[in-house]
Amino acid sequence: MRVKDLDFNIYLTQEKIQQELVRLAAAINQDFADKEPIFVAVLNGAFIFMADLARHVTIPSEITFVKIKSYEQLQSTGEHREFIGLEVPIRDRHVIIVEDIVDSGNTIKFLLEKFEEQYPHSISIVTLLFKPDALRHPLDLPYVGFRIPNDFVVGYGLDYDGFGRNLPDIYKIAD
Ligand code: IMP
Ligand code: MG
Repeated sequence: MRVKDLDFNIYLTQEKIQQELVRLAAAINQDFADKEPIFVAVLNGAFIFMADLARHVTIPSEITFVKIKSYEQLQSTGEHREFIGLEVPIRDRHVIIVEDIVDSGNTIKFLLEKFEEQYPHSISIVTLLFKPDALRHPLDLPYVGFRIPNDFVVGYGLDYDGFGRNLPDIYKIAD
């Protein structure tokens, strides 16, 4: 599979991803049964994951989106900009941040700090993908779909320089 100037190989099929979503949603349904959580998905990357996950969430809950930019092409810049969105007050709420991937952890760390300022009851993180070898901050990640090596991936919402988000499966950069 070619995305812009790079070659990618199939890595996680949509079937495998859907199976994992069912498992993640079941855990969330159980853990947040009486908590009316608010899902806060991080745009753009998490838009497909959030949409698919939502279809397996059976408990009363809200869904909203925030947008930040911290990743340019293949490299995490590490610099943090403001996020936009989050019109819903999160004070005393159980917040579940929904990410496509946790790489360095910069994005999640930034969001955790920002959200904490609004005194939510709790903040949890659900991420489809996690690159443990790239992580630069200690993070508690109770809901991880797939732990993957430190290789660049595209598809299922994840992009390479803006492209590839539409691919139904996840592809890994070719060696
Ligand atoms: P972090 O802040 O370094 O944890 O990076 C998180 C963000 O970078 C994710 O939300 C993605 O948008 C992007 N990202 C990290 N790794 C990849 C990758 O392998 N492919 C595409 N986007 C990635
Ligand atoms: Mg992202």
